[in-house]
Amino acid sequence: MSQKEIYEIGQVPPIGHVPKHMYAQVIRADRFGEPKHAFKVEKIAVPEIRADEVLVYVMAAGVNFNNVWAALGSPVDVIGARQKAKYDHSDFHIGGSDASGIVYATGHDVHNVKVGDRVVIHCGIWDRNAPSVRNGDDPMYDPSFKIWGYETNWGSFAQFARVQAHQCMPKASHLTWEEAAGPTLVGATAYRMLMGWSPHVVRRGDVVLIWGASGGLGCMAIQIVKAEG
Ligand SMILES: NC(=O)c1ccc[n+]([C@@H]2O[C@H](COP(=O)([O-])OP(=O)(O)OC[C@H]3O[C@@H](n4cnc5c(N)ncnc54)[C@H](OP(=O)(O)O)[C@@H]3O)[C@@H](O)[C@H]2O)c1
Repeated sequence: MSQKEIYEIGQVPPIGHVPKHMYAQVIRADRFGEPKHAFKVEKIAVPEIRADEVLVYVMAAGVNFNNVWAALGSPVDVIGARQKAKYDHSDFHIGGSDASGIVYATGHDVHNVKVGDRVVIHCGIWDRNAPSVRNGDDPMYDPSFKIWGYETNWGSFAQFARVQAHQCMPKASHLTWEEAAGPTLVGATAYRMLMGWSPHVVRRGDVVLIWGASGGLGCMAIQIVKAEG
């Protein structure tokens, strides 16, 4: 069957059918500024995936402040920084560091997910061949660590996102696509702050002051400390 050119927004391709092009919310350097002007819907070629990567059809995306910084081009020009580091030469940025979606294609080294799986994406990217990663150390300390959809291109503000296979986690079936897309970045960040620095972690019975509890990190922090008693 020949590859379709593009699917209109909201028109879900048959599972596993990857078109040549996709629509994406794109930032370019000549539009850096207020997000409502910096983001424009453009037609972009669907990215090729590497051996350890997965192409996810995005059902819902989560918004983060990093998308605002990327749109402003400040404090970091994310497009220029990637080009300078020879990490990605694209002259545009597709942001978005939270998503829920469906696996549409997998690289030949991918064994944890298959086409058709419903997944939530976490935003940590690293080089699987980096010595410390191979050694089993925390990949967040490896120089290769990056936040997907901010420090990398091909985030969730597009019909398809390109992710490393380990970023795919099973989507809880009781959550809607939107509910599943929202909490991972802020939830993981809050969890690491509260629970990641043993022995300096929140324990049952502790009194906890959550500063900024109405925000993204804060409302996840409330739920984590409540769950911990
Ligand atoms: N989101 C992430 O994934 C992430 C990751 C790493 C670090 N961070 C950092 O974590 C912090 C929170 O991020 P967020 O995404 O949760 O932001 P957010 O959703 O905008 O929440 C910010 C919170 O701070 C409160 N706030 C603002 N100004 C305040 C002030 N002057 N005094 C007391 N509270 C104030 C806001 O209250 P109102 O609702 O009343 O305005 C809101 O509850 C930021 O410093 C961010 O850079 C975020």
